[in-house]
Amino acid sequence: MAPSFSESHEDTTPITNGKANGLSNSSPTFHYTSTTKLRNAQHQVAHDFRSDVVTVPTEGMMQAIIDASVQDDMYNEEGDPSVNALQDRMIELTGKEAALWVVSGTMGNQICLRTHLVQPPHSVLLDHRAHVHCWESGALPVMSQAVTTQVVPKNGVHLTVDDVKKNMIADGNIHFPPTRVVSLENTLSGTILPLKHAREISEYVRSYPVPEGMKPVAMHLDGARLFDGVTAEGVDIKEYCACFDSVSICLSKGLGAPMGSIILGSKNFINRAKFFRKMFGGGTRQPGMMAAAAQAAMEHTVPKLPSVHALTKRTASALSEIGYTITLPVQTNMIVLDLEAAGIPPAAFISYGKKHGLTFFPSGRLVFHHQISEEAASRLITALRELMMDKKAGKELENYKVSGGYT
Ligand SMILES: Cc1ncc(COP(=O)(O)O)c(C=O)c1O
Repeated sequence: MAPSFSESHEDTTPITNGKANGLSNSSPTFHYTSTTKLRNAQHQVAHDFRSDVVTVPTEGMMQAIIDASVQDDMYNEEGDPSVNALQDRMIELTGKEAALWVVSGTMGNQICLRTHLVQPPHSVLLDHRAHVHCWESGALPVMSQAVTTQVVPKNGVHLTVDDVKKNMIADGNIHFPPTRVVSLENTLSGTILPLKHAREISEYVRSYPVPEGMKPVAMHLDGARLFDGVTAEGVDIKEYCACFDSVSICLSKGLGAPMGSIILGSKNFINRAKFFRKMFGGGTRQPGMMAAAAQAAMEHTVPKLPSVHALTKRTASALSEIGYTITLPVQTNMIVLDLEAAGIPPAAFISYGKKHGLTFFPSGRLVFHHQISEEAASRLITALRELMMDKKAGKELENYKVSGGYT
């Protein structure tokens, strides 16, 4: 089952006696002057459907930042207490042996892949839309000297073991770089890669024959939105993670933290990954504040995911009734509209949203998150109904070139 979360989080900061350290014992005074800025930002993102990365901290997260430990996570061998608390919580939730805080999802994925990919020539098998391949600035060939085998899922939604079987590259023919990692993504454009399929792929890949002395082909999961995936599917996150040798989970997407990701794997894997985190410039000094915010975010947001998904699905039904075509099943927090099929130019889409105080990307992808309000979803339906009616009435729609985000 999806993990249970309590509303509170523990302060793990060791208490020191100011006087004994020769420091002033006077109580510190934090004057938090940005409440208005924070509330305004919260109001703004309540109407922003571009992505779930746009969420801003809650007051609970700001409190957690103030309460965080401020140790140097690089110099101190034992790490920073707030970072350790977050890593331990993720280990407890996912059942993996070890965890490591990193600054972004891209860094998390690329560190994991680099840690698996020891000696070129080698290749990574993945979905042709995979973030690690399409959206990470071409990092894979640069960081890991790897090529990719991009597979189009036969069922149009997610990879299955048959797709993988057909595309694995065996070791032995010197023309072709052997598959050393299969990298999957859950969720992908809001669609779930079901546990059954992850398991079947994992069993096949892990028993795929490799030359003597070589480690088995590795399974990586880009689980940027794994909590969305397992919550919506109603499966145990531990069982899901057991299918993979490494997992990268974003804290700053559906979970709503200001920044950061967690990578998970065996103790040996994470010890090795620490070198690459440092090498990729990801050794941070006092990340406790961000880790504490992330932990507060998780406790606050994960219980809200079912209602985020329900609001997304209700909105999707209303949009289909109005006449929009939705290109992928709506299973979590995203609706992908086919604007081309509706004959709606991206500029008009953005402009009708703006008129109703809403922010969209031109691609037709609408993303819901814990700070989107019911009222914003109603406005969205009103805006897109008006657009469809105007289109059908033959009104000339704005049609200038627009760019930005996931076009
Ligand atoms: C599926 C997926 N993986 C990885 C990432 C990378 O995360 P970041 O933007 O934090 O580098 C993203 C970002 O949108 C994503 O959607």
